[in-house]
Amino acid sequence: MPATIVLGAQWGDEGKGRVTDFFAESADFVVRFQGGNNAGHTIIIGDQRFALSLTPSGVMYPECTPVIASGCVVDPKVLLNEIDRLSERGVDPSRLRISSNAHLIMPYHRKLDAVMERYLGRNQIGTTKKGIGPAYTDKYARRGIRVQDLFDPKIFRDKVETALEDVNRVLTRVYNQLPMGADTITEEYLEYAERLIPFVTDTSLLLWEGIRAGKEVLFEGAQGTLLDIDHGTYPFVTSSNPTAGGALVGSGIGPKDIDRVVGVAKAYISRVGTGPFPTELHDETGDALIELGGEYGVVTGRRRRCGWLDLVALRYAARVNSLTEIFLTKLDILSAFDTIKVANAYTSSGTHYDEFPRQQRVLYDCEPVLEELPGWRTDITGCRDYDELPENARRYVEYVEEATGVPIRWVSVGPERHQLVTR
Ligand code: GDP
Ligand code: IMO
Ligand code: MG
Repeated sequence: MPATIVLGAQWGDEGKGRVTDFFAESADFVVRFQGGNNAGHTIIIGDQRFALSLTPSGVMYPECTPVIASGCVVDPKVLLNEIDRLSERGVDPSRLRISSNAHLIMPYHRKLDAVMERYLGRNQIGTTKKGIGPAYTDKYARRGIRVQDLFDPKIFRDKVETALEDVNRVLTRVYNQLPMGADTITEEYLEYAERLIPFVTDTSLLLWEGIRAGKEVLFEGAQGTLLDIDHGTYPFVTSSNPTAGGALVGSGIGPKDIDRVVGVAKAYISRVGTGPFPTELHDETGDALIELGGEYGVVTGRRRRCGWLDLVALRYAARVNSLTEIFLTKLDILSAFDTIKVANAYTSSGTHYDEFPRQQRVLYDCEPVLEELPGWRTDITGCRDYDELPENARRYVEYVEEATGVPIRWVSVGPERHQLVTR
């Protein structure tokens, strides 16, 4: 598997961390290509739990080089803190490589994220308030500050001063906040620079050379397909492209080097933040999914909204990402239910939808057309062979496979590394 993309096929938190960790065992590089520390990827190894926000999940393996590529936004304070915490726990992050083209999340991005959300009131997106949207806004407005700018204190200070001219006008006049000072920010960031510079390189070249030398590269998506800025439920999305195309753009690799695109999907579905969610459950079944599934945000601690598996959305993810395989996670959580529902289509104002409605407005009113499947009511966390799964669990897996037209090659039945069934 020279190059494999692992990405979220839903609204994030599908289990990408554990899936990446599984593939990373044989990978030479694990690459984060978009997003920043809005991500929270959990890896459980024995009694140890690791929650990674920016460091690629491949950091757990000593032979693997973790790469933060150009499409990411990097909060240096968070990254250095994560590096220190990993070192304290015996994980060696020294192989980490960071693209000189990646953009920096600045203190004013975090500030703007928080105040903009507050001003949106009822219409807020429910962002993670990590400064992601404002950092990407500056990138596309071509006034962003990049990792490479840390190399030259004079250029860095100039760029901060220029950015603050605009930012401070907005902060003070629009949002009634105090202005921010260039001195404090420059001083803080140049201190981070000293520690970050050894990690910085041309990651596109590094990966190209790796692929040419037959090395295995794994691309680790953050967020999920339905949070994609172009293909998700806009505006209730993140500000990057978590879809397969984003892996190419974000890391500077061309499409012919990609062999596999693995979509990670939970056996049900969750969403954090606001926005339409056709299969959302507002009843005790939804509460049970949240509690049994431990559906609380890794980054913000927020309670995730939960619902039955949405096959309209999963088919959509299969299409926009050209998924070659699906990794189905958390099947064990469904063991608690007598019957399990899945949405095959939606209806709205008498219209039937097999595909995502073209107009976002319609999605708000969509009711799911649910199919009921029999549950299995047996503990499956110890199953390792597909044949060991109860018949109804296998039926469920095969139903999803047929509905999406994508092979489900792996099914996880618990959060630990070995709690996995490979077909
Ligand atoms: P990510 O953001 O996609 O990496 O996912 P998160 O780490 O935010 O959330 C997934 C959660 O589900 C984590 O707490 C994982 O430990 C847990 N998890 C992953 N796979 C399984 C599984 O098969 N069964 C159970 N019970 N938990 C799982
Ligand atoms: P992982 O990688 C789930 C959601 C936020 C909000 C929207 C925009 O762990 O799956 P942002 O801070 O990105 O501007 O917020 O996107 N969101 C996530 N939801 N998992 C994530 O990451 C998310 N990252 C952002 O809740 O609705
Ligand atoms: Mg997460």
